[in-house]
Amino acid sequence: METQKYKRYTITAALPYANGPKHIGHLAGAYIPADLYVRYLRLKRRDVVFVCGSDEHGTAIANQAMKEGTTPRAIIDKYHELIKYCFNKLNISFDIYHRTSEPIHHQTAQDFFTVLNDKGDFIEKESEQYYDEEAGAFLADRYIVGTCPVCANENAYGDQCEKCGTSLSPEELIDPRSTLSGNKPILRPTKHWYLPLDKYEGWLREWILQGHAHDWKANVYGQCKSWIDGGLQPRAVTRDLDWGIKVPVAGADGKVLYVWFDAPIGYISATKQWAIDNGKDWKLYWQDKESKLVHFIGKDNIVFHCIVFPAMLKAHGEFVLPENVPANEFMNLEGDKMSTSRGWSIEMHEYLEDFPDRVDELRYYLTAIAPETSDSEFTWKDYQARVNNELVAILGNLVNRVMILMHKFFDGKVETSADKLTLTDEGVKVEVNKLYNELEQSFESYKFRQAQQVVMDMARLGNRYLTEKEPWKTIKTDPEAAREALHNCLVLIGHIATGLQPFLPNTVTKILNMLNWPAQTIHFDEEVVFTNGHQLNAATLLFEKLEEEVIEKQIQKLINKKQAIEVAVQESEAAAPVTPAKENINFEQFAAMDIRIGTILTAEKVAKTKKLLKLTIDTGIDQRTVVSGIAEHFEPDAIIGQQVSILVNLEPREIKGILSQGMILMAENAEGELTFVSPVAAMPSGAVVR
Ligand code: 2FM
Ligand code: ZN
Repeated sequence: METQKYKRYTITAALPYANGPKHIGHLAGAYIPADLYVRYLRLKRRDVVFVCGSDEHGTAIANQAMKEGTTPRAIIDKYHELIKYCFNKLNISFDIYHRTSEPIHHQTAQDFFTVLNDKGDFIEKESEQYYDEEAGAFLADRYIVGTCPVCANENAYGDQCEKCGTSLSPEELIDPRSTLSGNKPILRPTKHWYLPLDKYEGWLREWILQGHAHDWKANVYGQCKSWIDGGLQPRAVTRDLDWGIKVPVAGADGKVLYVWFDAPIGYISATKQWAIDNGKDWKLYWQDKESKLVHFIGKDNIVFHCIVFPAMLKAHGEFVLPENVPANEFMNLEGDKMSTSRGWSIEMHEYLEDFPDRVDELRYYLTAIAPETSDSEFTWKDYQARVNNELVAILGNLVNRVMILMHKFFDGKVETSADKLTLTDEGVKVEVNKLYNELEQSFESYKFRQAQQVVMDMARLGNRYLTEKEPWKTIKTDPEAAREALHNCLVLIGHIATGLQPFLPNTVTKILNMLNWPAQTIHFDEEVVFTNGHQLNAATLLFEKLEEEVIEKQIQKLINKKQAIEVAVQESEAAAPVTPAKENINFEQFAAMDIRIGTILTAEKVAKTKKLLKLTIDTGIDQRTVVSGIAEHFEPDAIIGQQVSILVNLEPREIKGILSQGMILMAENAEGELTFVSPVAAMPSGAVVR
């Protein structure tokens, strides 16, 4: 077990992207375990700060804004509030839930960049990057999609394939396409700042592979090892985007910090804001050797928290490094991967809407099946079974029986000849002490499933003891024996409540109310005692049984949601993607174009080309030659006499040795089919289009 080596604890939970609601898989992966650990530390009276917040930059946000037809600002404001609200309702006890759009964060991230830049830690390099000519933008990260080279998923992002979890760069995608226009991008040179991870390889090897071989989880250690063994490459920490934190260097216009550079610095800026609000010194939590930094994350974030961010902290030089990164695997749902976009998910707010009074039940179940060592699976039936067979039948039953019997036999009053009431049964005492030790050991080694089991074992112990002592029988033959048995159970319930606090905070409040306990919390070093004459409050039920219909309804809801999303996707795919609008022009720019109705007089293929037709057009002004790329769509003979719209004042251009004087306007759909833009009623050649 950990010897008291640290003076304070800085605990972080991954900053969720504020690009949509978050589901219970996220909750189980990072936020519940982090909350359990922090609540444990507080009960041990450790000095701890628990920080989190919304990750509000990057192409994930900008993409969502495009999808919803709004601005990134509107997106982050909406989802930040929703996510924060849910965490609060679920009793995730952050000391601060911050935002990376706050000025204090922009400043902190820019300062961090500047320190590294001034020290010459970056490589400045020009390279070819994908560019969307139509949108006039470079395609970083999630602005580009294509086929995953690992699992063939056709919709992998330029930074990651969400299907197989592989971290990617845009050049690795097969058949890349722009999410801005759907077009195939071209390559264009641009300058960026790179963190030379290769230079840190030796140090990372020593720090992780040698230093943390035994205390980091196997899944985390394994991922780090394969990254390091695979050879580390310099990583660009800037992007050509307009949404994000400006690169604080002269001449870096249009460039922002890469979201994965600024997001983890968000932990630092959140701590700064918390320190300002609470009269603390943030530096102690980040820069003092006696502070323990622990990152709680899901497995898709391992490389950034174990390799990239530590390399940044090391390069900076003034920061402590994470002591542990107990990342979880993924939680699946009813046999399939959880996914908000595919509709196969239980979003935090959806659960809260349907079960506002069952927050502890969710915390309990997600902890019981936490994906600590391998992927796990949420099923509604199993959730129901755990609630009914464990929370109701073991914990609720013990507390209820003891409370009812205490009221029935002794009017709910503790009467003892000793000056204080503690455990008098040696067997129970020994067992409880053993379980307490196991509980602390489990917490110290981030085994929260096990820790919760240990507390439930205390409740099992209580039920066994009660069954063995049978106070409902002995009350008639030996009332003092009945009293002692129930007293021991009461003290035991006090211990259970103590151990239960991190897991089920609402339930503990109910228990402490029933016990008429003077304080809201019981620290781990406090003795659980009752004084003579202590009066208990009335018994209330801790948990209600979950009925079959409720569960069936949830399963059906899940299936319906998925189907509804599938239909919506099909419909939106059938309704061809519409090319986004171009930037506004003014009326003068429009009026400068001279568009007329013309008539095709002759048409013939341009020799040695597939696409080109040479047309003679009667423009009303003159008869002129126009070369047009429509040969694959129209037979020359079939279009003679066709009325068309023609831009007559386009600068003449030589195409395949022919001077083309103007351009025919065509309408094109997503499949690339073409049609002429012709007047609905016949018009004389030369009629003006405006
Ligand atoms: O994967 C994600 O949702 C990221 N927004 C996590 C960021 S964690 C940290 F670095 F801030
Ligand atoms: Zn993949």
